[in-house]
Amino acid sequence: MLSVSLSRLQNRVLALARFGALPGGGVTRMCWSPPYEEARTWLLGELKTAGLATWVDPAGNVFGGLGVEGLRSATPVVLTGSHIDTVPEGGILDGALGVLAGLECLHVIRESGTRIARPLAVAAWSDEEGRYGSLFGSRAFCGRLDAAAIPKMAAVDGDRLVDAMGRAGFDATRATEAAAPRGSVAAYVELHIEQGPRLEEAGVPIGVVEAIVGVRRTRLVFHGQADHAGTTPMERRRDAFLAAAEYALKARELVVTRGGPRAVTNIGVVQIHPGASNIVPGRAELVHEMRDPDAGVLERLARECDALAREVAATRGIRVELRPMSATTPAPCAPRVQSTIEAACASLGLASRRLYSAAGHDAQNLAGVTESGMIFIPSRGGKSHRVDEMSDWDAIERGANVLLHTLLRLAA
Ligand code: GLV
Ligand code: MN
Ligand code: MN
Repeated sequence: MLSVSLSRLQNRVLALARFGALPGGGVTRMCWSPPYEEARTWLLGELKTAGLATWVDPAGNVFGGLGVEGLRSATPVVLTGSHIDTVPEGGILDGALGVLAGLECLHVIRESGTRIARPLAVAAWSDEEGRYGSLFGSRAFCGRLDAAAIPKMAAVDGDRLVDAMGRAGFDATRATEAAAPRGSVAAYVELHIEQGPRLEEAGVPIGVVEAIVGVRRTRLVFHGQADHAGTTPMERRRDAFLAAAEYALKARELVVTRGGPRAVTNIGVVQIHPGASNIVPGRAELVHEMRDPDAGVLERLARECDALAREVAATRGIRVELRPMSATTPAPCAPRVQSTIEAACASLGLASRRLYSAAGHDAQNLAGVTESGMIFIPSRGGKSHRVDEMSDWDAIERGANVLLHTLLRLAA
């Protein structure tokens, strides 16, 4: 039975981990940054070494094709992939595994001369982590990118997408041209680390994803009044930070009590202006993220949180601005892809379990244009989006072989 080369995959995972490597382990490789661009060049070289045709689309997505040199509806491809950007201080596997395992699968299929009825391609989608916009590259590819929004897209530090892409040699205003021709993708399957504890705790080697959560991000700007922190009487202060802090605690309470068992929420960005210990905060900004696999639940929670923000601001005599940043749609995975993954697991003698993904993934955009699914492997300690994110190498090998046999079945 055909199988991947773990040593080749391992070498590539460790080689990619060097781009943006941090001294204490882990990696910071944000999309369009110099280490990302170096990694992208390296990846193109590896795809060529594997004997694949390569191309890059106007959204910066990188492709390697076997039996195909670009996407046309005349020859629908079976597609795999993931992303090579990371969160700040992230791990070496989130995204990288799916791209490099996909590359390894195509490499071994080509090398072995295995006949396939459909062409195969592997994609590295740009800005999956959403420094400038959630799931950017796959959104463009799936025709979900709003051209009018592009000039306004920016990172939390204010760096604009048009500038970041410009530095990397791309014209962001042309990113919508990356939209794939209708019917050009026969199916999509992505291998990823679970990033949570469920598979490891259950002792199950493979997860078959049934659905992927939607993620909503909103920037809340509380406008109070900057004042002298010593001389202004307490009752006269309009402290923007205290409103933000009250909102943070109450929003968490709201999501936990009013959401379903799968709803989660996080405030991971807080900025206070002017930001001096002797000035009452005049402005406080939060980025509030919330997730649920049910679109209805997510929308209701978002409405209730917006109302909460207005109420907190009003009782403190300050103003709040709500700026929606991004909203991805929860997506069910295709039953045919799920059952194909399960058949591949059975052929390899591996147990599997169905589960939903609490992380966002490019596969949820692909679900809008083709039959899309995902394979998960256990994450050590359930840890991810941190520098010690890891999975066992034998778990990686099992996952890559499940991907290989899923692709072969989908391409048969
Ligand atoms: C992607 O990694 C996410 O934030 O879910
Ligand atoms: Mn991630
Ligand atoms: Mn990821």
